[in-house]
Amino acid sequence: MSHSITRMISAIAPIYDPVIEWFLHGEEKVRKRMADRIPDFERGLDIGCGTGTFLEALRKRGGGELYGLDISKRMLRVAKRKHRGMEFVRGSALCLPFRDSSFDAVFSTMMMHHLTHEERVAALKEIRRVLRPEGAYYSLEFGEEGLDRIGRAVTGLGYLHESEAQGFEVGEKEAWEKGLVWRALHRK
Ligand SMILES: C[S@@+](CC[C@H](N)C(=O)[O-])C[C@H]1O[C@@H](n2cnc3c(N)ncnc32)[C@H](O)[C@@H]1O
Repeated sequence: MSHSITRMISAIAPIYDPVIEWFLHGEEKVRKRMADRIPDFERGLDIGCGTGTFLEALRKRGGGELYGLDISKRMLRVAKRKHRGMEFVRGSALCLPFRDSSFDAVFSTMMMHHLTHEERVAALKEIRRVLRPEGAYYSLEFGEEGLDRIGRAVTGLGYLHESEAQGFEVGEKEAWEKGLVWRALHRK
């Protein structure tokens, strides 16, 4: 866990949920909105799942097998305590501990800004590798525009650029509140 923002988030794992609720102003609504935008899938992976709240929204919606991966032991400790019936795995987005073509949906919410440009390129390559040919990657991430003061402070390492997603086609794209951008990237 090399970046200071990742270390800081990991350190606040036990209070991450109230912090993110404060940031999103009504987390449940935002998570539901994300979950409702994802078509049915058999096996889904949330990269940088944190405390697993998005996976819980997906479970409530109903759907396939759920996996959460995070680099932070502390985040996963909270996630495992809160959620049963999902698989949580410790690992890095840069080297996913899964076989080729093992998921039909991969998601990440507010994780990509923890990575440098080179790391995002590597992570997107890994995401493409673990996706089935018809699969898609769904991302909620800060965009360059519309960031408020807090958004600017937390996106020190940069934003997700579509040019970094080699081998994907950009599908649905929407600007959300807090400078966040929702994107569906379909594996080509
Ligand atoms: C801002 S939190 C977002 C957590 C969750 N996705 C959410 O929406 O609340 C970013 C998460 O990404 C994780 N993370 C950062 N770098 C990572 C990496 N290289 N591989 C996997 N997870 C990473 C952090 O540990 C943290 O849990």
